Amino acid sequence: MPRFSLLTAAFLGLANNVLGDTETCGQAPYDPAQYVCWDNQFLCPIAAGEPLSNCAGACYSKFMYSCTENVLTLLPPVESPFTLTADNPNLPIHGKPVTAAGQHWVVAGETGSYCPEQVGDACPPGNETVIISRNGGVAMSVMVPGGQGAYLDPYWNMGYTQAHSAYIPPGSITTGFGAYEGGGFVNLNGNGWGWAACPPRASGGGGPAWNLVARNETNTERYNQCSPINLKINSLPSGTYGAWQYT
Ligand SMILES: *[C@@H]1O[C@H](CO)[C@@H](O)[C@H](O)[C@H]1NC(C)=O
Ligand SMILES: *[C@@H]1O[C@H](CO)[C@@H](O)[C@H](O)[C@H]1NC(C)=O
Repeated sequence: MPRFSLLTAAFLGLANNVLGDTETCGQAPYDPAQYVCWDNQFLCPIAAGEPLSNCAGACYSKFMYSCTENVLTLLPPVESPFTLTADNPNLPIHGKPVTAAGQHWVVAGETGSYCPEQVGDACPPGNETVIISRNGGVAMSVMVPGGQGAYLDPYWNMGYTQAHSAYIPPGSITTGFGAYEGGGFVNLNGNGWGWAACPPRASGGGGPAWNLVARNETNTERYNQCSPINLKINSLPSGTYGAWQYT
């Protein structure tokens, strides 16, 4: 019996060394930097800085689901325009907006927009990036006739069309987005791999913006310098335009 206790103590010591600061969830040891323990019995991973919630033993993201009477339900779609902010409390860009400029979405950049002189005061301020999503598609919320559609480009960056043009690079994806009320903007094309933000590079011009990429099973290696984020929806009154056009 004393031998058994010693062995147990030695094993626990080893486990602590290997796993860092472990805690226990019921009987199971876990690393609180990677998991959260619910009701002292369910472990859920922390994904993109979000400790996943527990719904009767199933782990879920509040950016996409809610749990009502132990049943997981998809959040309702957002019908109105919205802005997006990056969400991952472990990153310096947590809470920073997704911004559109140069036909490309980034995080924590400057919104690029244009207002024709003859429209003048009737233009929105144009300093915020406002987006709208319907039926799996996504577009910029702009006044310019013809609008500006948004899409995943062949590199899985988010792009948008130039005003007065419908041109979209071949190989882009225009459907399969989800925008959830009180939740997030999700790329359903990625098989759950989600968004990531890539820190600015010294060679990239030196601005503060982080590139936004959509991950999938084949590009995670290529984007291994990037950190997972959620895109949080901040909904606006219907009919809100962000700009005459984004540039
Ligand atoms: C955008 O401009 C409006 C009007 O000038 C100002 O009230 C608002 O704070 C600005 N928003 C941002 C994000 O800079
Ligand atoms: C993943 O994204 C890359 C671009 O980063 C793209 O070339 C590839 O086709 C995508 N893979 C899948 C399975 O969609």
